[in-house]
Amino acid sequence: MTRQKIIIDTDPGQDDAVAILLALASPELDVLGITVVAGNVPLNWTLKNALKVCELAGKPDTRVYAGASRPMLRPLVTAEHVHGNTGLNGPELPEPTLQAQPQHAVDFLIDEIQRQPAGSVTLCTLGALTNIALALQRAPEIAPRIQQIVMMGGGFSEGGNITPAAEFNIYVDPHAAHIVFSSGIPLVVMPLDVTHQVLTTRKRLDAIAALGTPVAKATVEMLEFFERFDEEKYGSDGGPLHDPCVIAYLLQPGLFKGRHCNVAIEIHSELTMGMTVVDWWGVTDRQNNATVMREVDADGFFSLLTARLETL
Ligand code: RIB
Ligand code: CA
Repeated sequence: MTRQKIIIDTDPGQDDAVAILLALASPELDVLGITVVAGNVPLNWTLKNALKVCELAGKPDTRVYAGASRPMLRPLVTAEHVHGNTGLNGPELPEPTLQAQPQHAVDFLIDEIQRQPAGSVTLCTLGALTNIALALQRAPEIAPRIQQIVMMGGGFSEGGNITPAAEFNIYVDPHAAHIVFSSGIPLVVMPLDVTHQVLTTRKRLDAIAALGTPVAKATVEMLEFFERFDEEKYGSDGGPLHDPCVIAYLLQPGLFKGRHCNVAIEIHSELTMGMTVVDWWGVTDRQNNATVMREVDADGFFSLLTARLETL
């Protein structure tokens, strides 16, 4: 089997953690490295959480790199109200023994994309796009070498989750998002319109709990903490499992449906800062730059996730 080479850029975050578990449980994927960015919580926490999750997965050889501690221009906005003060509230996970790599994440992104065969690396972004944008600014020659970027970010009919107009990952660093969406790199976007369809319902969490493994127990504890904010806000049964949609797309793209269209990022108006303006109906002459997903087979998604978690 030809394994798909990926780099995961992330701000764990319980949903990021489940995405990392799914990736590390999937032999189809060759995780070249995990680059960490500030977002859900400050970088010191997102880094520690990424290390903890790699150890929880039983993959202590995973290479983890610390990246940007703040957005390119704006001050950092975090989401402890959703993820807890550590960003991984829920389970009691041991302090990590795995150490971060000494290289900065941005340097790793540039070096690894230049080292790997052109067009062979997929970037999976689960947080603000700061690391990716900094790498593209420092070394624009890497853009054509990147096969695609599959990201969790943005929203259109669903609106925003951190402001009425903006989804958190884009809102945290809209200037970085503008750079990535203007880069010409093939983009696949999992917006809130999709991720709000994959809810951690009681039935789905019970199916994961029934695996009876330490990974399953920690996953359920993470998600039972994580979901409470969205359940209260939306009155839903369960919370949206945002980030694992990115990894599930690589494993079973047929779970998702969407269309190629133009996405532009608001970087001027404070009112709509970070809004993803999605030209779904092609009413502008702006060039299509992203495949935006809008439908997902939620049951198929959770069957895949549960089956892969069982292997850890
Ligand atoms: O808006 C949801 C996104 O913001 C997810 O990636 C979550 O982990 C946070 O980073
Ligand atoms: Ca995230």
